[in-house]
Amino acid sequence: EKGEYRHFMEKEIHEQPDSVQHTLSEYLDLVSGKAKVQAVDFAALSRIQIVACGTAFYAAQIGRYAFEKYAGLPCDVEIASEFRYRDPALSPGTLAVAVSQSGETADTLAGLKWCKAQGLKTAAVVNVHTSSMAREAEILWPTHAGPEIGVASTKAFTAQVAALLSLAVAAGVARGRIDAVQEAELVKALFEAPRLIAEALQMDAGIHALTLDLAKARDVLFLGRGPMFPLAMEGALKLKEISYIHAEGYAAGELKHGPIALIDEATPTVALAPLDDLFEKTASNLQEVAARGGPVIMITPETAPALHGAGVRRVHAPDCPALIAPLVYAVPMQLLAYYTAVQKGTDVDQPRNLAKSVTVE
Ligand code: F6R
Repeated sequence: EKGEYRHFMEKEIHEQPDSVQHTLSEYLDLVSGKAKVQAVDFAALSRIQIVACGTAFYAAQIGRYAFEKYAGLPCDVEIASEFRYRDPALSPGTLAVAVSQSGETADTLAGLKWCKAQGLKTAAVVNVHTSSMAREAEILWPTHAGPEIGVASTKAFTAQVAALLSLAVAAGVARGRIDAVQEAELVKALFEAPRLIAEALQMDAGIHALTLDLAKARDVLFLGRGPMFPLAMEGALKLKEISYIHAEGYAAGELKHGPIALIDEATPTVALAPLDDLFEKTASNLQEVAARGGPVIMITPETAPALHGAGVRRVHAPDCPALIAPLVYAVPMQLLAYYTAVQKGTDVDQPRNLAKSVTVE
């Protein structure tokens, strides 16, 4: 079943050009360059409340940046286990959205049910289309990742991100924030993702080389800004889960508010640095890390300006439109965790203490 691959995780990482393509096609039309009209009236919404756990929570946070930026639609994202017990104050006109691969995660399902009981409209972004959440929610927003066997989520994550970015564009159009010309551009950009993900898969040799050192680390910091911040947290989660190395994802701008105290020669920092309008700010944070002797692994396009100082290693990611950077940069995050775990000899597909579907809280 794994074919030419050593692990399901490796196979699933390589399936992403297809799984993202299938998911985008659910929401966007390549030929007309238009987002498909959705069952929900985005123009009538005042807010989106997303609940999710783990990797799905990070995908949702990437979605939040897009809903606010492209659709001007306020969006909150919360870990389901907190949301369900804290009596959140919700306003009418809020769409509650559960994001989940399995559609069975106990806390996420409970959060969704609670919102429904409050009278909110509900939707579920799920990969298992017959799951409890799919049945519970009024609107089913499917991802098309196909069955995911590896316990550490990879292709389900990028499918969730692809669905949420597409829905953000659809919402922007419905709310009059995106005109027909911009819509065509954004749809085109999204459909470039499968090809650019395939290109990012070519980073494997470069990433593999870096993990020889990374596997020796006890702690690793992941940094990013904008949508690269939740992706940094996802990268840290992936590394923790399968290599058992302690890792934290931080917003690069938070570095000097605490985590910089951790920096020393033995603590590598992985930075997600696409060449966007925040690049210079991230680069200056990395300069501070390097100046303190911290090894830096910079995931950045080849065209990005070089940092000064020793200890900075770069792996080159494809140039890509800002909208799809989280999809493209997810690949080096996954490969980094995967090769580090292989290097350490851990059980990649069945990490200790973890279950694929968490149906009890
Ligand atoms: C991480 C991972 C978990 C799940 C989380 C939610 O690699 O797989 O963090 O993302 O347990 O699961 P679903 O998406 O099925 O609700």
